[in-house]
Amino acid sequence: MINKVHFGKRISSYRRNLELSQTQLAEKLGVTPQAVSKWECGTALPDIDLLLTLSHLYQVSINDMLEEPNLVSKLANRPFDMDGIAYFVSKTEREHNVAWAQQIVNDSWIARNWESQMSSISQARHNIAQRIVSHGGVILEIGTGPGGGYMPCILKHNPEAVVIISDLSPTVVNEWKRFLDKEMDPPNVSYAAFDFCEIPFSDCSIDVVSDGGGIGNAEGDKGNALKEAWRVLKPGGLLVTSTGFVTKETFASLPAYAQRVLQEKRPDIFIDLYEETVLAGFRKIDSIISGYWYTADDDSSIANLARELGVNLKFTSYVRFCEK
Ligand SMILES: C[S@@+](CC[C@H](N)C(=O)[O-])C[C@H]1O[C@@H](n2cnc3c(N)ncnc32)[C@H](O)[C@@H]1O
Repeated sequence: MINKVHFGKRISSYRRNLELSQTQLAEKLGVTPQAVSKWECGTALPDIDLLLTLSHLYQVSINDMLEEPNLVSKLANRPFDMDGIAYFVSKTEREHNVAWAQQIVNDSWIARNWESQMSSISQARHNIAQRIVSHGGVILEIGTGPGGGYMPCILKHNPEAVVIISDLSPTVVNEWKRFLDKEMDPPNVSYAAFDFCEIPFSDCSIDVVSDGGGIGNAEGDKGNALKEAWRVLKPGGLLVTSTGFVTKETFASLPAYAQRVLQEKRPDIFIDLYEETVLAGFRKIDSIISGYWYTADDDSSIANLARELGVNLKFTSYVRFCEK
């Protein structure tokens, strides 16, 4: 069935790309501005001959104007059920994740995180989202998580952006779909549950891989995740990845017993993934420090371990722009 509202949003963005007002378009087509407004609000569809004219004017096929984008099917070369989510992993949450996933649902984490990204977005985050949006094309958000990575800011910049929301957790993907359908019903967002260490898309098919802390918290091999990001990106494509780590200087300032325990229990917190990014194939890498956070202000597992050891660990957050 044709989703008239999505059709309207799509044709409205094509018109704005050509910098035409509704009145100017109406004049070109020989219809009233009210008719254009009705199409763009999703209350009416144009006649078939006008659809053809619009298709020529916007250089977009009639199918692409009318049909919901089945982007994930195209990229994965595989058809899917039409429930709106492509599952490459079990639809059932994995045992060790059930309590966390339940909390996301019960405590409305997604709605709350969305709200905070909409109301108080930092300049740094704003700039990152702007860079992703201006690169354009198909944006794959990996390890979207309850925070959404950069996706909320991306959609704030461009509600018509072509984004695939993905996570290993089926609950996370489901909850994002449920929330966004109600909140803004974006016309070009697709949903997929998969492991980013094994991305189910063809080589050179994605324009931007956006990672707001997914790889840094990866279940699985982080180096493989970076290699997969490189593989699916088109030449000239962009990986934006951010995470935090404990620098050598911070490590050196810790008491010897804390160094020993942290190195034994959480060696991952000292790895900044730069070498892995180069090994994945990325040659042009810009790393920018985006801030700092302290375990004293946090209740994650690493923060609890730091408290047990009587130290306040400083994490350096960075974002990397990596070009294929
Ligand atoms: C703790 S969150 C933090 C980052 C997240 N972008 C956010 O803004 O909330 C990490 C997310 O990465 C997902 N994740 C971890 N390993 C993954 C993998 N191998 N493939 C896909 N998603 C993964 C987790 O399910 C989780 O939702």
